[in-house]
Amino acid sequence: MHNETQVMANLAPPPGRPFDLDDGDSYARWRERKLQSQPQSLEDLIVEIGDPRRLTPAEREALTARCQRANMAVYASRVGNEATKDIPLELGRQLGLVRLDSNLGADDDGITSLQVVREGSRGSYIPYTNRPIHWHTDGYYNEPAAQIHGLILHCIHPAAEGGGNALMDHEMAYLLLRDADPEHVRALMAADAMTIPANAVEGQMLRPSRSGPVFSMARDGHLHMRYTKRLRNVIWRDDALTREAVANLVAILDGDSSAIFRATLQVGQGLVCNNVLHDRAGFRNGADPKSTRLLYRARYYDRVAGT
Ligand SMILES: [Fe+2]
Repeated sequence: MHNETQVMANLAPPPGRPFDLDDGDSYARWRERKLQSQPQSLEDLIVEIGDPRRLTPAEREALTARCQRANMAVYASRVGNEATKDIPLELGRQLGLVRLDSNLGADDDGITSLQVVREGSRGSYIPYTNRPIHWHTDGYYNEPAAQIHGLILHCIHPAAEGGGNALMDHEMAYLLLRDADPEHVRALMAADAMTIPANAVEGQMLRPSRSGPVFSMARDGHLHMRYTKRLRNVIWRDDALTREAVANLVAILDGDSSAIFRATLQVGQGLVCNNVLHDRAGFRNGADPKSTRLLYRARYYDRVAGT
């Protein structure tokens, strides 16, 4: 932990607007630093902590430093399978994650229990089944003003088998795509690049259709990504460049990039991130609660503070 301060100093936000396609100099400087500071393996992203509700200054700094490098950190805590939503709530608060998003499946307090649900409307949504979920960022169907910038997953119990997540820093996806062809990035920055059709059940409109860019720059210059690899219920802008860009992005995500990490969260472990790209493998639950997958998920309009 001795060099965390040094790592943080090295990763102060670069000047200029690296994600602006018209600012090539800023991009070149940012790109070099980004590649230099890339995690080499999942281990580089793991931080051992005691209680997520009460981080020590060193634990908080270690989590923040990893989010500065890779927009994500995986923590391994000592709270075991304690099932209280204070854990993600308090953890988030200490990291500047406070403005919670609520969604169709969220429990009343804005934290969602991700588990297999057989009854009710939630059972028809893939997150509440044991099926695999394609690459995506969270909340891609949210309205433009309510995009998700921060995400916490906290594991109470893993499945008996499977249920791991692939993780990729969305800034690395941007970098690889821009290196291959900046025009592909431009296509995916179009305001109508990706449309999610309305969600209507039995004639009742639950959510209107949402159009927006894949890559966008937040007002503070940070990169935001809104994406799903699913094929159904997504309408891509109908032109050749967009199709090529999407195919290129899919090739990156399905390829063997060293920027893709895989983790299966265990009891008491979790992910803190700036809504990076992720997927979920299918899984099989066991017969008892200890091998029945249960994760808490909190989505935020905020990024991790200081990143
Ligand atoms: Fe997700």
